[in-house]
Formats: sequence, C-alpha cells, structure tokens
Amino acid sequence: MEKILRKIKNKKAVIGVIGLGYVGLPLCEILLKKGFKVIGYDIDKKKINDLLKKKIYITNFNPVNIFKKINKEFLVRKVDHTVSELDFIILCVPTPLKNNVPDLSPLNNSMQSINKYLKQNQTLIIESSTYPGTTELLHQKYIKRKFDLGKNFFIGYSPEREDPGNKQFNISNTPKIVSGITKNCLKIVNFFYKTCVNRTHIVSSVEVAEFTKLYENTYRNINIALANEAKILSEKLNLNIFEIINAAKTKPFGFQAFYPGPGIGGHCIPVDPIYLSWLAKSKGVKTDFINLAAKINNSMPLWIIKIIKKKLNLNNKEFYKKKFLLIGAAYKKNVNDLRESPILKIINYFTKNKINFDYNDEFIKKIETKKFRSKFHSVKLSANLIKKYDIVILLTDHDYINSKLLLKNSKIIFDLRNFFKNKYKNVIGI
Ligand SMILES: NC(=O)c1ccc[n+]([C@@H]2O[C@H](COP(=O)([O-])OP(=O)(O)OC[C@H]3O[C@@H](n4cnc5c(N)ncnc54)[C@H](O)[C@@H]3O)[C@@H](O)[C@H]2O)c1
Repeated sequence: MEKILRKIKNKKAVIGVIGLGYVGLPLCEILLKKGFKVIGYDIDKKKINDLLKKKIYITNFNPVNIFKKINKEFLVRKVDHTVSELDFIILCVPTPLKNNVPDLSPLNNSMQSINKYLKQNQTLIIESSTYPGTTELLHQKYIKRKFDLGKNFFIGYSPEREDPGNKQFNISNTPKIVSGITKNCLKIVNFFYKTCVNRTHIVSSVEVAEFTKLYENTYRNINIALANEAKILSEKLNLNIFEIINAAKTKPFGFQAFYPGPGIGGHCIPVDPIYLSWLAKSKGVKTDFINLAAKINNSMPLWIIKIIKKKLNLNNKEFYKKKFLLIGAAYKKNVNDLRESPILKIINYFTKNKINFDYNDEFIKKIETKKFRSKFHSVKLSANLIKKYDIVILLTDHDYINSKLLLKNSKIIFDLRNFFKNKYKNVIGI
C-alpha cells in the first residue's frame, strides 16, 4: 500500500478514466493538470476521434491540458489491454433509467470489459451517481473472487459533483466526498483525491457516499418543484414569482433560492431521485416527496402551453395556427445537453398538433430523437427572421442571446427565465 501512496505523491500513478462525457472529460483535464498520466476510455468512437483531432464536444469547457497532452501523457481509446497498466480506474459511465427503473448496464458493461485486464494493487473508483449498494454489488460480482480487498485490490466510491456551465465552482474547488469499502481502500482513495482537489470529505461507508449524491440532487429536484408549484399559484394571484423568490433570498439564513422554469432536464436531476425512490420501494418505504416533485416538474411544459393560450385568450384551434419560435433547447443555460430537456415535451405537443415552429440554440444545432419522425435544425436569429413569428418562447436564457434583437423584433415573448425582468410591454414573464 505504501508503494501506491508513494506513486500518487510522485505523480507516477497512471489513471484510467472510463467514460469521457460531461463528468469523465473534465476529470481527465484536472488529473493531467496535476501531472498524472491519464488514459481515457470510451465506447463512442466519435468522441475518441474528436479528441484525437483536438475537437471538444462539451460547451464552455477549456481543455488546455487535454489538447497539450493528447497522444503524449493523455491517451484515448476503447477499453483494451492498457487497463492492466493502470493504477487507478475511475468509472464515469452513465446511470440512466430504463422503464423508470435504474439501469446499471453501462456500469456492468464497463466492468465486464475491464475485468480480464484487472491486476493486483489497482484501485477502482466509481464516480457515476447510483443508489446505495451499487459499489458493493460490483465488488461482489467482479472483484471478490479474484482479489483480497483492502490488501491487494482497493475499491472506493466518490460521487462527481460537476455542474456543467458553472463558472464559479469546478472539480478543484468543490469538496470531494470520498469513501472506501475497507479502511485501506478509504486511505488510498482519500490520498488520491487530496492530491487532485482542494478539499475532501470522508464518509464512513460507500453506501453513505452513494446516498449523499442522490440526496443532493433529490433536494434540488424537490426545491425546483416547490418553486414551480409556487409559480402556478403566483400566476393565479397575478404576482411575479421571481420577485417573490428574490425577496425571500435577502434572508441571510434558512432560505436557498431555487427558480421555476419550463421543467427540469439533464442526466441527474430528473433521474437520480428515481434511483432513490426505486430503492425505497424495494425496502417498503414510501417516498411521497420524490414522487410529487417528479409529477409537478414533469407537468410544467404542458402547463406553460396552457398558460400561453390563456394569456393570449386563444382556443386550441387559434393557438395551433400561430407560428412559434422556441429559444433555448438545452435544459439549462450555456450547456449543450438536451437530455430530458423540457423542449422535447413541447416539440412533441407541437408536432402532434401540427403547429408551425422553429427553434434556436447555438449549442444544439440539431434535434433528432427516436420519438420525432423529423429532424429539427436550429435557426440563426436575425431581425427579419424573428419578425416572422407570432409568438417567441424563451425556454433557456443562454448568455449569447441578444436581448435587444429579440425585444425589438418579437411580437410577443413569453419569458420563462425572468431574462427580461418583466420590464417590457411585449414580454410576458411566467
Ligand atoms: N452531467 C452531469 O452534470 C453530472 C454531474 C454529476 C454526476 N453525474 C453522473 O456521472 C455519470 C456520467 O454522467 P455524464 O453526464 O458524464 O454522462 P455522459 O453520457 O456525458 O458520458 C458518459 C460516457 O460514458 C461512455 N460509456 C458508456 N458506456 C461505456 C462503457 N461500457 N465503456 C466505456 N465508456 C462508456 C459514453 O459513451 C459517454 O461518452 C452519471 O452517473 C451521472 O449521473 C453527471
């Protein structure tokens, strides 16, 4: 074990990151910055080819070290024999839902692909968000028979808290929760992350670490649902919910601001609470908060449509004849992530009712999902183009959006993000 700690200290440890997405790739960047040699693995050939061509597929991410060190201290490839050269293997693969149930197949697939290359004295760390018990499950299934855990193989769980697009907090300045199955596992995992980030926070078991991650995102999900529910009420009372939240926010204790919007999206906030509620159900525990939050947040896109009809005093037939411009396809500002984004529900409604619409999102040039028969392409915003639409809906307030251009040329804008602060005659904030 001392040898492993020394390797970390001297930056001689070789780190393998499996899954080069929103979580894995920024992790590679920080590891390279700290002076480690890194091998990144992915099953997506396009991502590997992009990286080899120094092309980046994540918005607002500046991969200085990745580009400087690619093909030198940073190798990218499909899983192969090089796994046996690694000291650390970090899993950053997706943990999606399948039929509203946790789908651990990416974790299992990655474990199966690395399994034959595993060797003594390696450390395996899971960073994917998942329910308590998963790390132990992987240990029992793939490691236990081959190694003596805590003696010649080590396993830990350290959830990623990456917030894509966040300019203030990144991997380095966000405390890293660390855990290990045995004391030695914890010692190695903690020592490793202490060399990479400003601060680690040790918890007593991998299950606590797994639960903590899901709890953080469930907290966020429920508070967004509360903001959305308050928005529905404030709408009835003719009050502006953003003004209310911003006033509440002046209280220096006991209140944290969450904002309403067209719904929730991404790979974490809509998904992680279901991992927790699924586990709770299997243990005979009810999770009413989680279920209710999902119901409220999922209902928001169609509620928005209902309110727009009401505000404009249009019946369905009149509404269907209007021409719409949807601005912002990503689920949150300044990212190129379309997963679970509320725009998908709105497009579904529009296509079902044959409504004429275009969308603009400079980060998402095309929308193509199995659900829709046609592909949609982002339009380029210009005065002449904007004038063509009857109704503009601002779903996501990316920083590139030119407010003056929109204000000057839109007949009416429905602002779902308080982008225009309710100050203009042709803007309706909801
Ligand atoms: N995106 C976020 O903001 C965020 C934040 C914190 C935690 N997480 C969690 O981190 C995990 C990864 O999320 P992400 O957003 O980076 O996902 P992602 O889809 O952006 O990236 C995952 C990558 O893993 C690759 N992959 C899938 N199966 C593989 C396999 N068997 N072998 C090798 N590569 C494989 C995919 O091709 C993809 O490139 C999830 O559990 C997620 O919940 C995500």
